[in-house]
Amino acid sequence: IPVAPFDYLVFGGSGDLSMRKLLPALYFRDHDGQLSEGSRIILASRGDQSTEELVPRVREAIGKHVAAEFINDDIWRRFVGRLTYLSLDATAERGWDNLVHLLQDQPDRIRVFYLATAPDLFGDICRNLARHNLITPQARVVLEKPIGHDLASARHINEAVGSVFAEHQIFRIDHYLGKEAVQNLLALRFANSLFETLWNRTAIDHVQITVAETIGVESRGGYYDKSGALRDMVQNHLLQLLCLVAMDSPSSLRADDVRDEKLKVLRALKPITAETVGMVTVRGQYRGGAIGGASVAGYLDDLGEPTSDTETFVALKAEVASWRWAGVPFYLRTGKRLPERVSEIVVQFRPVSLNIFPAEAGLFSANRLVIRLQPDEGIKLELVSKDPGPGGLRLRNSALNLSYAEAFKIRFPEAYERLLMDVVRGNATLFMRRDEVEAAWSWVEPILDGWSRTGQAPKPYTSGTWGPSSAIALIERDGRTWHDEPM
Ligand code: BG6
Repeated sequence: IPVAPFDYLVFGGSGDLSMRKLLPALYFRDHDGQLSEGSRIILASRGDQSTEELVPRVREAIGKHVAAEFINDDIWRRFVGRLTYLSLDATAERGWDNLVHLLQDQPDRIRVFYLATAPDLFGDICRNLARHNLITPQARVVLEKPIGHDLASARHINEAVGSVFAEHQIFRIDHYLGKEAVQNLLALRFANSLFETLWNRTAIDHVQITVAETIGVESRGGYYDKSGALRDMVQNHLLQLLCLVAMDSPSSLRADDVRDEKLKVLRALKPITAETVGMVTVRGQYRGGAIGGASVAGYLDDLGEPTSDTETFVALKAEVASWRWAGVPFYLRTGKRLPERVSEIVVQFRPVSLNIFPAEAGLFSANRLVIRLQPDEGIKLELVSKDPGPGGLRLRNSALNLSYAEAFKIRFPEAYERLLMDVVRGNATLFMRRDEVEAAWSWVEPILDGWSRTGQAPKPYTSGTWGPSSAIALIERDGRTWHDEPM
């Protein structure tokens, strides 16, 4: 069903995110008939080029990020007809009158201002939008991460944006929440009665959340080196996943009901301080190595900066201090240049209270639920069953395996497709509220402080391994192991 006609204005419109994610997502939505006639996409940036000059770049990006079977001439022509390029200086006067002129014929239309720029421009852009009376009741603003680099800077951004937009107009994006398998977590937890009574400290031993990447820092060194894995991945994506696993049932899927529950989890996270940081966190930085048989350079070489002590890997042990979760560790890890690209959540149940089987039955594992977020989205429930055959009773581990690709034979939309349209629909359920972002920083900041106060430098790890050996020790000290097996 087409959504209402809109004007989508992307600041940073000719940049990497726009080309790699936003435009392909909008193209797919157009392909699927969701963009109404007359909807416009305006790409703004500081550069000086014409729409005609930009179009071949957009075409190239679509060709790269959209499978050939979805590209057809009619749709491309329709899509390109929606595009306008606007040269504009976010911090000065240049270009704003042209924007006003462009938007003025549709004052009542849904307007989305997507800020795909460095966050230090967010305040200026918002002030300029207000100064030029562009913030209509139907306007929304989308903030890309990172929202700040610590609590104070996040507050500063939130203040600046909040001084001109109402909170219901502000959409703070975390693209992990748009991933199919992440949304499916809500369905798994709250549309099935099976798990809810077990979803607590009585039945669950611990939870693991892994977001592993094979890529290195690529061309993003300038941003990444000031950020590091804790800020880049844990403060947002991993904590959001933790919230979805740990939260209580919201009373509805309305944005504030879901966000209230997530906020409670963030506020219940036990603080990690300078006293505990060395015991419960591990920082790593990749060195050269090999991934999938190809040799790759180390972080410092990728960066061209021999002295950086930015972490490209973090493992940590978090605890949610609530009745439901007291004493249940949540082990989180994420890193670049790890052996495979995999994101998954592992819920490890407790072993049976008493093993009644004879020794000949063999050892068997406790139940485990593995939720694979990417790639090969799916859910695997590991069970113990009898080894078939006429011999004695022998037990073995087996699994119920739901592969989404096999079960649902459709193309899985990219996270941004869903989220960009949710903004138009005004549905903020999958976006972060101001207090959530600030609560996440409040928990992350003492870890950063702890690292600097205790001088905890990142430990080197060879590209293509699962991080520094201390990340393995972190979990093995507790008598547990990371789940590294393919599904
Ligand atoms: C981004 C981070 O938010 O997420 C990147 O800034 C990271 O460093 C990316 O590579 C991972 O996203 P995905 O969707 O590829 O798992």
